Amino acid sequence: MNRPIEIVPSVLPADFSRLGEECVALEAAGVDRIQWDVMDGNFVPNLTFGPDVIAACREHVDVMFEAHLMVANPDELLPNYIEAGCQMAIVHVETTAHLHRTLGNIRELGCRPAAALNPSTSLDSVSSVLDMLDMVLIMTVNPGFGGQAYIPTMESKVTDLARLIDEGGFDVDIEVDGGISASTIAGPASAGANVLVSGSALYNYQEGLGFGVQELRKLATDAQSE
Ligand code: DX5
Repeated sequence: MNRPIEIVPSVLPADFSRLGEECVALEAAGVDRIQWDVMDGNFVPNLTFGPDVIAACREHVDVMFEAHLMVANPDELLPNYIEAGCQMAIVHVETTAHLHRTLGNIRELGCRPAAALNPSTSLDSVSSVLDMLDMVLIMTVNPGFGGQAYIPTMESKVTDLARLIDEGGFDVDIEVDGGISASTIAGPASAGANVLVSGSALYNYQEGLGFGVQELRKLATDAQSE
């Protein structure tokens, strides 16, 4: 049974001087959730959104927020992002020695737990906690910046993860993030990813965000059923 396709914008390409309005435009464009790429300048060489920025945008829209925590100390920071209004927290497995405990803490705080894997990180890092996860994010670029080239070799990782989830009967979404565009989205969708993050490609549509969301959703849905 295919899991519903979700199109998720990264707000990295958005106009940071108008983030509340940008969230309203994304919600109007029909996105399924908004991903906040939280970067601390330590785990990744870029620095982005604090919780207060997200909290300021929270009141403008109803759409789900997910925090992609590209930070060296997620256990310390994640309560702030949940308090700011994020309904999902995505922790990089490379940033915590006690992933099982961290995921349990997220759930106890009333938030949906998810884990992210960098391109070189093995699925073994999440295979024993799939029962605790709502989603696994397979990075299709090395984290830190938008506008990077998609890494196609990650598709076999998506296929392997989809098999693990299916064989175990787990209720877990698969998200991909990085270089997702009209020309790359079919690969991960047909491999089993149902949550697809797009930043630069979505914002580059001359026809606007609504058109872009619709096109990416159709391409992913068609690929899923092939
Ligand atoms: C990398 C970021 C980006 C972003 C999407 O750390 O996580 O992957 O969300 O950016 P694009 O779609 O421009 O690759």
